[in-house]
Amino acid sequence: MLLIKNCKVLVNGEFLERNILVGDDGKIEKIAASGLKTADDVIDATGKYALPGAIDIHVHFREPGITQKEDFLTGSRAAAAGGVTTILDMPNTKPATTTVALLEEKRKLAAAKCLVNYGLYMGATATNLEEVKKAINIPGVKLYMGSTTGDLVVTDKEMIRKFFHCGRKVVVHAEDEELMKKNSEMFKGQSDPSIHAKIRGNEVAGAAVREAAIIGGNIHITHSSTREEMMLIKAKGLSCDVTPHHLFLMAEELKKQGNYVKMNPPLRSKEDVEALWDAVKDGTVSCIATDHAPHLREEKEQGYWEAPSGVPGVQTMLPLMLDAVNKKRLSLQQLIKLTSENPAAMFGIKNKGKIAAGYDADITLVDMKEEKTIKNDDMLSKCGWTPFDGWKVKGVVAAAVVNGNVICSNGEITNEKVKGKEVIFA
Ligand code: DOR
Ligand code: ZN
Repeated sequence: MLLIKNCKVLVNGEFLERNILVGDDGKIEKIAASGLKTADDVIDATGKYALPGAIDIHVHFREPGITQKEDFLTGSRAAAAGGVTTILDMPNTKPATTTVALLEEKRKLAAAKCLVNYGLYMGATATNLEEVKKAINIPGVKLYMGSTTGDLVVTDKEMIRKFFHCGRKVVVHAEDEELMKKNSEMFKGQSDPSIHAKIRGNEVAGAAVREAAIIGGNIHITHSSTREEMMLIKAKGLSCDVTPHHLFLMAEELKKQGNYVKMNPPLRSKEDVEALWDAVKDGTVSCIATDHAPHLREEKEQGYWEAPSGVPGVQTMLPLMLDAVNKKRLSLQQLIKLTSENPAAMFGIKNKGKIAAGYDADITLVDMKEEKTIKNDDMLSKCGWTPFDGWKVKGVVAAAVVNGNVICSNGEITNEKVKGKEVIFA
């Protein structure tokens, strides 16, 4: 039994001081202002907010095959320290998760090491539609319309259409392969990392989202990053997510941080960033997802064409967003929707996304008044760096509770014995 005392909890749209009693089954037993029995473990959370644990629908924990960059243990440590209690892991591993047998292999790896709860995507290829249909308990299938890290890409329109209408949710990496290749040719011989934002310019994403919207089906546009995409997504009523790096960094950052901020899709202009924030505020954006894509420093230190794309982000999402709440860029209620409630609802994740009796006790305690500087040295990802090194934020993650177990406190992992569980998709 765990008792979290005196925390502020969202009750019918209002933050009220409450105590939360968690049963031995890892579920929230009761929430009350007073009169709860005590427990073996008690946390005094006076002054802190209890948020439903964040659910990050887009991470790359790199297992199997790329564990020099990350694995389920190190990735989930970073998640826990960032207040993320559930992750959905992407399929571009080695081998890629493209068959039921490979999905089962990955299940074993995650079960043995992942400290937070998890779900595992399948990846779409030109030939594995039937496998994807057979898979059990997956959040959906990831379809890359344009190539990126790994070799998962589907460019055949007819095959894309089949996936979009196959009965699974399809999380779409929307970048147009042909346009991108054409642009690459134009910049051959140049090596300034700033060309990345041009090779994968706004029109590359725009063309793919337009195409995806025409094909239709049960699709979700992930890491949407431009003003044009937001207009299309809004007009067509599509669901989408945005990443913290696209909300907090701009293309000029490539001049300062070089290939460290090379990612797909790339960083954009001030106008795009403003459009993303507007879309976050008006509800066009369904959720914030990190696209946590760790690569090692030595890989990022290579030349433009050799350096891999991707940035880590699972540990810094909430601190950055809490700081944004303190700056009144969005409300804490909106943040809860974007990082927990909506992801749970969109993917039909059972018993998650809310702090209420009967729900799983996945709880992130946050201190909205504490200030902290984000530092490379504090990052628990195997890659050991963040594009936000040196950023001062107000609003920190004080603790992460996963299935009723306190696994992280003040940035330190406190329990590696209990592992997370695979989530259940309705
Ligand atoms: O920047 C990216 N990195 N974009 C992706 O789509 C893949 C990811 C990775 O796996 O490194
Ligand atoms: Zn990704």
